[in-house]
Amino acid sequence: MLRKAKAVLCREHNKPVVVEQISIDAPKRGEVTVKLGACGVCHSDLSAINGTIALPLPLVLGHEGAGVVEEVGEGVTDLAPGDHVIFSFIYMCGKCRFCVAGRPVLCLEQGKALTTPLEGTTRAHDAKGAPLGIFSGCGAMAEYATVSAENLIKIDPKIPLDCAALVGCGVTTGVGAVFNTAKVEPGSSVAVFGCGGVGLSVIQGALIAGARRIIAIDTLAPKLEMAKKFGATDTIVFNEDPVKEVKKITAGGPDYAFECVGSGELAATAYRAIRRGGLAVVVGVAKPSDSTAIRTMTLPFEEKTITGSYFGSCVPRVDFPRMLALYMAGRLKLEELITRRYPIAEAPQAFADLQAGKNARGVIVF
Ligand SMILES: NC(=O)c1ccc[n+]([C@@H]2O[C@H](COP(=O)([O-])OP(=O)(O)OC[C@H]3O[C@@H](n4cnc5c(N)ncnc54)[C@H](O)[C@@H]3O)[C@@H](O)[C@H]2O)c1
Ligand SMILES: [Zn+2]
Ligand SMILES: [Zn+2]
Repeated sequence: MLRKAKAVLCREHNKPVVVEQISIDAPKRGEVTVKLGACGVCHSDLSAINGTIALPLPLVLGHEGAGVVEEVGEGVTDLAPGDHVIFSFIYMCGKCRFCVAGRPVLCLEQGKALTTPLEGTTRAHDAKGAPLGIFSGCGAMAEYATVSAENLIKIDPKIPLDCAALVGCGVTTGVGAVFNTAKVEPGSSVAVFGCGGVGLSVIQGALIAGARRIIAIDTLAPKLEMAKKFGATDTIVFNEDPVKEVKKITAGGPDYAFECVGSGELAATAYRAIRRGGLAVVVGVAKPSDSTAIRTMTLPFEEKTITGSYFGSCVPRVDFPRMLALYMAGRLKLEELITRRYPIAEAPQAFADLQAGKNARGVIVF
């Protein structure tokens, strides 16, 4: 059935988001309609608003969502109404060489489902009937969303939906960057640039992986206080030369550095910080115009590596349950990541707070 839903839209770049009443179509073949319980406010949503992540507008924002299945389309056999699910914001075709090799974040078909279910038309329309794109195939900042069944992972209904939502992006991105991309070894030293929802998740992941030294760097002092609660052993307020201080603490540089801000220059800073043979991981999504300059000579003579990490190099069906098992075992903090909950009407405030760096994570609750 057709459903009315309040939704958070980006209609114009660099303008505050708007909350509108939209309509969500019934699911077509292979699709599912979800009633949202919660949706985290990720910096990538903000990047869609300011054009860093350039997607066609208007767009229903939100990709870090969790909710309850309302209705399933034809051919959907593994989900039923009442099931609790987390959204996964990557499309996986299941057939390309990357999907079959267990690297769905690199799926060759992904570009085809950035703002719609794969088929290319949208199930979301505004009050005048005009079609609306859905961010990363999710559009989870809305009371209802109709998405491809492939974008949903079933979870234990005992897990609170606001905590579960964070696994849909920030937590899996951060912890996955540590576990899957970097494969951080016990006893190692780690530097983390940027302590938002993603960076704090890198810090928690590093702690779980057994890192001995975890250095948190942020421009905002309150973020560093948060970082300590998630496992940072040392903190540095970002300054002109944080590398010097990082190298001093780690006697020559950390084994790993993670860039969790989204700046070409900071990616170079992370690379400069690591020791000989170290690994720098770029998690932040920088503007398309940014570039990263590294001293080429350090590649052969110091055997340093710089790489990226998309969605924690995860396989959602493997890694979401893994994150939730760590949460259930009391080893992964999710509740503590939620600084503030907002009703959907306060979405503009939630984005203003994200921009001002007030929250570990802000979450829209429905
Ligand atoms: N690779 C992925 O799959 C993936 C997934 C999610 C988010 N992201 C990206 O990761 C980045 C972080 O996301 P988030 O939601 O945690 O953002 P956030 O806004 O919550 O956190 C960013 C943090 O960086 C800090 N910061 C800003 N400039 C800094 C500097 N020069 N040095 C150190 N710290 C600085 C801010 O104070 C803030 O605490 C964004 O670029 C986002 O788009 C990437
Ligand atoms: Zn995100
Ligand atoms: Zn694929």
